[in-house]
Amino acid sequence: MCGIFAYTGNKGKNASTVLLDGLLSLEYRGYDSAGMYLPESGSVRSTGAVSMLRKKVPKNFKGHSGIAHLRWATHGEPTEKNAHPHQDCSGNVWVVHNGIIENFKELKVGLEANGHTFRSDSDTEVIAHLVEEHLKKTKDFEKAALKALREIRGTYGIALQYKKEPEMVIGARMGSPVVLGLGEGEHFIASDPSPILPHTRTVVFLEDGEVAVITPKKHTIHKLAGDPVKRKATRIDWSAEESQKGGYEHFMLKEIMEGPEVLQNTVRGRLLPDKGLAKLGGLESVTKQLARINRIIIVGCGTAYYAGLVGEYMLEEHVGIPVEVELGSEFRYRKPVINDRTIVLAISQSGETADTLEAIREAKRRGALALGIVNTVSSTIARTTDAGVYNHAGPEIGVASTKAFISQMTALALLTLFLGRQRASATPEQASASRRREMSVVEGRDIAHALQELPQKMQTILDNRKAIEKLAIKYAKSRDFLYIGRKYNYPIAFEGALKLKEISYIHAEGCGAGEMKHGSLAMIDEHFPTMAIVPADSVYDKMLSNIQQIKARKGPVIALASEGDTEVGKIADDVIYVPHTIEMLMPILNIIPLQLFAYYFAREKGLNVDRPRNLAKSVTVE
Ligand code: F6R
Repeated sequence: MCGIFAYTGNKGKNASTVLLDGLLSLEYRGYDSAGMYLPESGSVRSTGAVSMLRKKVPKNFKGHSGIAHLRWATHGEPTEKNAHPHQDCSGNVWVVHNGIIENFKELKVGLEANGHTFRSDSDTEVIAHLVEEHLKKTKDFEKAALKALREIRGTYGIALQYKKEPEMVIGARMGSPVVLGLGEGEHFIASDPSPILPHTRTVVFLEDGEVAVITPKKHTIHKLAGDPVKRKATRIDWSAEESQKGGYEHFMLKEIMEGPEVLQNTVRGRLLPDKGLAKLGGLESVTKQLARINRIIIVGCGTAYYAGLVGEYMLEEHVGIPVEVELGSEFRYRKPVINDRTIVLAISQSGETADTLEAIREAKRRGALALGIVNTVSSTIARTTDAGVYNHAGPEIGVASTKAFISQMTALALLTLFLGRQRASATPEQASASRRREMSVVEGRDIAHALQELPQKMQTILDNRKAIEKLAIKYAKSRDFLYIGRKYNYPIAFEGALKLKEISYIHAEGCGAGEMKHGSLAMIDEHFPTMAIVPADSVYDKMLSNIQQIKARKGPVIALASEGDTEVGKIADDVIYVPHTIEMLMPILNIIPLQLFAYYFAREKGLNVDRPRNLAKSVTVE
């Protein structure tokens, strides 16, 4: 989730100062490098935070307009070379971009054939070259930009500048937010209103497929096809901090609400639904080795560990490969039996968790192929593993992991599809060595189609969050909570309990529903509620009888059930309904109500949900 900010004005302000100050308020979106371009002074870029960029800005770096960027790497390492703004060959067209250009490889090949030379590994750079290419035919910057934008596929929030039209900035939106700020004698373009608010509170939000042109005196908006758009301006009453939270009270809620978008970003460009295949570019370099593996060990900590447990069910059921899931902190001190047919797969949002990192180093020492499912590009774990899959969830600010968990499970589903269908392309010798089960095209298609439908289904859960809020308030005086589930939802019981305990500080415990009778059931009485995850899956009947066992001990039960279930409401005290999907993807939907429940529960207790006591976002110590 990068941040863009652009300014043009005739009020005597120095664009360099306006842009640097604005970037600071976008830093919450995550950063690994930053940069800006002023037609009157040139460009400056730096790795690290805005403070690092500020140090590099020369004294005479001045102008009336410019574009600026904070990068959170997706394509290419977080180096100065890959930092935005990116330029064309002539150094006249400059671009900053938030999002992913899906067809950048095809476009780049075509542009290189036409003589363009690329300076970076970033997907963004193609935009500048495409505009340059069109400027050869039309001298009109606006027309050339429109033509270029029509050729790119993917997501973008963009700001473009042309040295020969220094007063003009062109902005465009497709899937990544863009807002215009309308001041007197000055206009702005940004990823969210926070950098604009110190200058003006009058803004216009662009919609997907819209292009805006700003100069100090005016702004115009067009559709990509060229039709003009008339949109009323909005007055923002939020503070800059509220605007960073997208108008939500906390980052945690904002990040839960981002779930459908995160799902789309993790899956984007990686599914061939009709062929029932997943395409994982990050694993291309190890495809041959993957065809002969016969064991997977997943390592992670906390939430990432629970995602790994969900992955264990997915991979064993659909790929037929033995999987073990280990806590990083335990694995590193064991003497694991590993050989060159073993994958050790690290799951980590931050990519810096010390225990997971050491586990991966240990696995590599013992000859395993080390893979990663990592959210932070070029983090230590990403660099230490041999290959991997990036989550593309964007930076997570709330300490309690929510959207990263969604993307971790989604990446595991993609990996399941990738490995399950891979055998078809392996040699018979490799196939028999790996003893894997072949996933049929039909099964592959079912998984791919179900994955495509998940964002919409997740949105309906989020739209009904009021009902979950009410329930959380009803139970907010509880001092204990048991979470139970089976099979795919067994890890979800643990993750649901973790969410509640870490932000509300009450005792919450996850338990395999079948395991209750071996101990945990003793705790149950009328003051000890249970959250039972009981979707319409292959263990539904077993879950119903586990709920009966709790009711027989007078324990209150909230059931998380599939829409259309008419049975569970007869025994549970409260029911949260969730749309149906295939069994292996159910955890991805079921965790959403549990994240929301924990959020509203802790908020009701007046706690700081974004920064729970005693915890850090990235645990780089043992
Ligand atoms: C819980 C939580 C932690 C992390 C764990 C691993 O909400 O956030 O349990 O999941 O510290 O962190 P990463 O994924 O960064 O390795």
